[in-house]
Amino acid sequence: MAVKNILRIGHPLLLETAAPVTAFNLPELDSLVDDMFNTMERKNGVGLAAPQIGIKQRIIVFGMEESQNQRYPDMQPIPVTVLINPEIKQADNEIITGWEGCLSIPGMRGLVPRHRRIRYRGFDQKGKKIEREAEGFHARVVQHEIDHLNGILYPQRIRDMRMFGFEQELNQWQKNRPESG
Ligand code: NI
Repeated sequence: MAVKNILRIGHPLLLETAAPVTAFNLPELDSLVDDMFNTMERKNGVGLAAPQIGIKQRIIVFGMEESQNQRYPDMQPIPVTVLINPEIKQADNEIITGWEGCLSIPGMRGLVPRHRRIRYRGFDQKGKKIEREAEGFHARVVQHEIDHLNGILYPQRIRDMRMFGFEQELNQWQKNRPESG
């Protein structure tokens, strides 16, 4: 088990498409997933995608137990999940904006439109099928992490670049603005 170095925006690997996992229930896969959870937890993240630690495979981890996350203290808990080869579908046409950060873009936040409700499926590290519906912040986190597998970072999704900046500045600035999402 190890805490891995997280690649930051500017690293070309973050812009690549990751490859599907073809073999499950292997010690190497278990240890990679452990490393991803350790890295995410150490950095107080709610999600991490394998390309962020330099692994070009379609693996994401996410989750947030109640009141354990310092970055998003007001959000609903999200089940702690490893999702491999994920597929995602919007559940309806509703789009909402919400503030996002990324461990590959430390200190910054942006207002990002996402589908409010989604269905997603994939596999855990043992090859067991996972299938869920999600909404709100849970749905947002899954969409953000799956974007990483396709070489997309959240600033590419921001519609109004005035809604992108350093978290410290935005915290002050946001007080006078309605926050959506
Ligand atoms: Ni991210």
